[in-house]
Amino acid sequence: MTVPQHLLLVIPSHSTASADSAGHLVEAEVEHPQLSVLDVAATRGDGIFETISIGRGNPQAFDAHLARFARSARMLDLPAIDETLWRDAVLAIAERLADHDEAWVKIVLTRGIELAGATGHPLPTGWAYGTVSPEFRRERTEGVDVVLLDRGLRSDVSSTSPWLLAGAKTLSYAVNRAAVREAQRRGADDVIFVSTDGMLLEGPTSTLVIRRGDELATPPDAFGILPGTTQVDLFAAADQWGLRTVVAPLTPDELLAADAAWLVSSVRHAAPVRSVDARPLPVDAPLTAAMNGFLRARTA
Ligand SMILES: Cc1ncc(COP(=O)(O)O)c(C=O)c1O
Repeated sequence: MTVPQHLLLVIPSHSTASADSAGHLVEAEVEHPQLSVLDVAATRGDGIFETISIGRGNPQAFDAHLARFARSARMLDLPAIDETLWRDAVLAIAERLADHDEAWVKIVLTRGIELAGATGHPLPTGWAYGTVSPEFRRERTEGVDVVLLDRGLRSDVSSTSPWLLAGAKTLSYAVNRAAVREAQRRGADDVIFVSTDGMLLEGPTSTLVIRRGDELATPPDAFGILPGTTQVDLFAAADQWGLRTVVAPLTPDELLAADAAWLVSSVRHAAPVRSVDARPLPVDAPLTAAMNGFLRARTA
């Protein structure tokens, strides 16, 4: 029997009022086009997504991802998500990928077809796609070189300019990709964004966690960053490693003085930061291994 490598479920005319969620999931060919050229996902990046790690068929931090998906929908004034529908979609794909140690499922909801505005309310488009995770051994053990990049936003952007959607998980990730290309141009792998008022924020696809002594610290969501599900799970487990946790403003100087730092996220898990703007940072190999062991073994 061949082990499935990927699976796509589309949710045609995603309805917030679906009573029979199973009836709304349609298996589709990944190799064939499924999206209209008029969909605002393609034309404006107007939609939301979540990427959920799957370990041996178990979605990790599942409730937290669904809650964040609902939060992003609210921030973008999209219709409320149908949690049962999305839960069923993720579980159906996870089950098909259960023979793999590590896989992931991405769920996407867009505002729908652009020209449907003429008829009133466009129906959102939705799909769930899952596949096997790539190999992250190097990033998880040797670590990543990062550069600090100015995000061009103040740390109070969420309250001053909520229309910038800072902290929502939108489909508009072109800026995040551009930042990683800038890091690569500078000979690094990844990025930590800094606010214009000098506060550390997050990576383009990850949350920053630092260790100073027996304390783990991460910047507050109130700085317009995505509330990370991986960071929350690590902080909940920190006790077992003899560590306290704190959510607090952090500066580049504090990062450079840290005993260790990580960029943490679903799928890649904990990647130690081994340098910042070419200045070396200690890699805490035993704690990194403990974190990654814990993250791989997590369930809902
Ligand atoms: C901007 C940003 N920050 C943080 C994260 C980490 O979130 P999580 O740990 O829930 O994957 C992500 C994940 O993709 C992200 O895109």
